[in-house]
Amino acid sequence: MTIVARVDPLNPDEAVIERAADVIRRGGLVAFPTETVYGLGANAYNKSSVLRIFEVKQRPADNPLIIHVDSLDMLHEVARDIPEEAYKLMSKFWPGPLTLILPKTERVPYEATGGLDTVAVRMPAHPVALRLISRSGVPIAAPSANLSGRPSPTRGEHVVEDLYSKVEMIIDAGETLYGVESTIVNLLVKPPVLLRPGAYPVEEIEKVLGVRVHVPGFARGLSEAEIALAPGMRYRHYAPETPLLLVETGRYDEEGLTRLTRKVVELAREFGEGRVCVLASQETLARYSGLGVEVLNLGSRSNLYEVAHNLFSALRKIDELGCRVAIAEGFPEQGLGLTIMNRLRKASSRRFFT
Ligand code: TXA
Ligand code: MG
Repeated sequence: MTIVARVDPLNPDEAVIERAADVIRRGGLVAFPTETVYGLGANAYNKSSVLRIFEVKQRPADNPLIIHVDSLDMLHEVARDIPEEAYKLMSKFWPGPLTLILPKTERVPYEATGGLDTVAVRMPAHPVALRLISRSGVPIAAPSANLSGRPSPTRGEHVVEDLYSKVEMIIDAGETLYGVESTIVNLLVKPPVLLRPGAYPVEEIEKVLGVRVHVPGFARGLSEAEIALAPGMRYRHYAPETPLLLVETGRYDEEGLTRLTRKVVELAREFGEGRVCVLASQETLARYSGLGVEVLNLGSRSNLYEVAHNLFSALRKIDELGCRVAIAEGFPEQGLGLTIMNRLRKASSRRFFT
């Protein structure tokens, strides 16, 4: 049986947290909110609990987990030989959506790291996540709380959809703040490498480090090359069941957007039979009226946090609407735009450039 408990995100009921912490300590699984997406958590030190995460998510065993800590003391239990630059980033961005790759200590089982000697660690900024780790008294290993390959969950209902009856407890604290996962940086190599763009823009990280961070093709959602650097990145992600066509352009000024939206219209007409879904922006949605397509508004192009926040819900929605095909507009790859394009490219079955 799965207990589903609703809590206030800012002031969670201590009795619920205590009950969830008890599940973690006994080796069970708890889905919980973070400021990015919901996580599927287990005691990071308990091998069999960690293995159950992989089983429940149907996740390949070599795709390592992120370990969540509540303090620097707990960080030092799981990571060693932490470079100076890591402390610089942590003092600026923790608690928050930044995950760092660090050498692991012996306490962290290889089951959690996919056999690697490094561990991905972050201190989440969500009160429920922090209280849960503290009350459990152990670091919590947690991937996103979706079935492998599905869009990450940004609401309690998404977790219920994917994991109900498979885990001991789901803590539902409503919608998550950012709606996209943490930014993952590997500082153990020079120059540092962005493994996954996320809720913190890579430009902000570069400012604090004072050096350029290498952004490989796979972090842009492009190439499959260099994949040895980033375990887990080769798997198909975020994909709705409906085929998703992504339309990109070289420039996103008025002229570029005109070209882009024309291409979307052309593609929509090609699929005249059956329902078509368009993932549009506030600025462009009117251009699809009268076409007979289902338009989903991701938000304004001048506020990419809004677009990122709505993205995974929209990807789930296109399956619910029963569309034959979905067409998404692209975004410029600056700031959160890089994160959005990584997710859209990974979710898409075909890309068009105009
Ligand atoms: O925002 C987030 O990061 C969410 C919340 C729950 O914290 N978690 C999350 O976890 O997105 P997950 O499992 O969906 O993504 C973790 C990714 C893996 O796919 C892998 O690419 C990378 O982190 N990773 C984990 N350990 C690593 C390691 N030792 N070296 C390189 N990459 C690693
Ligand atoms: Mg995930």
